[in-house]
Amino acid sequence: MASANESRQSQKDAVDQNFDYMFKLLIIGNSSVGKTSFLFRYADDSFTSAFVSTVGIDFKVKTVYRNNKRVKLQIWDTAGQERYRTITTAYYRGAMGFLLTYDITNQESFNAVQDWATQIKTYSWDNAQVILVGNKCDLEDDRVVPTEEGRRLSDELGFEFFEASAKDNINVKQVFERLVDIICEKMNESLDSDPTVMNNKTPTLNESPPPSQGGCAC
Ligand code: GTP
Ligand code: MG
Repeated sequence: MASANESRQSQKDAVDQNFDYMFKLLIIGNSSVGKTSFLFRYADDSFTSAFVSTVGIDFKVKTVYRNNKRVKLQIWDTAGQERYRTITTAYYRGAMGFLLTYDITNQESFNAVQDWATQIKTYSWDNAQVILVGNKCDLEDDRVVPTEEGRRLSDELGFEFFEASAKDNINVKQVFERLVDIICEKMNESLDSDPTVMNNKTPTLNESPPPSQGGCAC
């Protein structure tokens, strides 16, 4: 469970206006791959083995320090169930980064990765950065997707790749930090090649979130 201190910190982060950048990130992938668990582990350092499937969409806020900058992350946790697809894809717009998640013990969730990548291409900004995450790597005995398969697919799609575990807290922080870093790298590249790019093509860095569908801990 999250401590009272962590919870207070998370609430403080949500209202804190003192930041250099705000990045909107989305976690997507099939139902039950562990998207909500991944976010709770990162934002609150908590994990529960109970499965409460997400309804619609929710978000949490966390501020990180990277390269001497305060970066406020607005992290949207989407429902994996097909019936929420229309709602969730509406939130892809303006997202600067995606965690495309599958479950290494669930072949179907891996087979769906290509479709999720197509959704990103269809609904998001062209320069959105994507990391492919094979979650539940603590369940080695139940593994059905070899690490090499994940890496091969990520190469094919042009995404970076991590295996991770929300349960055992493996690579969770690293995945988010890497995503922030590649977004920053991309931003710098765009600024170098065209100094007007921030005004014309990229999403506003500190734009307000769209209205939340459900209550969240922020
Ligand atoms: P939807 O909200 O329906 O899209 O699902 P989700 O992707 O948010 O899945 P959720 O985080 O609710 O996790 C589904 C189940 O997997 C829960 O029972 C979690 O406890 C479990 N789970 C999540 N991450 C891990 C992990 O890293 N290891 C193990 N062993 N179980 C995990
Ligand atoms: Mg969920």
